[in-house]
Amino acid sequence: MKPMNREQIDTLVAAARRVREKAHAPYSGYRVGAAILTADGEIFTGCNVENASYGLSVCAERNAVAAAVASGRSSFEGVAIVTSSSPAASPCGACRQVLAEFGDFPVVLADLDGDRRMTSVRELLPDAFLPETLSRES
Ligand code: THU
Repeated sequence: MKPMNREQIDTLVAAARRVREKAHAPYSGYRVGAAILTADGEIFTGCNVENASYGLSVCAERNAVAAAVASGRSSFEGVAIVTSSSPAASPCGACRQVLAEFGDFPVVLADLDGDRRMTSVRELLPDAFLPETLSRES
């Protein structure tokens, strides 16, 4: 797994922080921003979008992945997730699974005070159910 450099991390965290402001979170009041860096150097962002039918709410990370995939990108170099939690919150199980679909890459967890924690998709979801698992059918 290739680590991100300082500039990439700063840029991704800033983008995630900006998009977090756009979250539609009238029910939880908890806003999340995510920014994903593609192999060709583009950044796609997503925020959480809640719904009056609560179970239909979609997390920021999954919206960022969907935006990147819809643009034709599925090779990722890193993702930043910004929340107001301190220490910075870690992604939910569903988002870990969705990130793992696209390989192992660095994950930056950041809070609003500038604190950051570096981890990776693999570290967040060891022993994942992966695309290659499907071809190991016996
Ligand atoms: N949320 C995310 O956007 N990402 C996560 O990884 C965890 C939770 C959102 C979902 C919901 O809108 C709010 O945070 C509270 O759970």
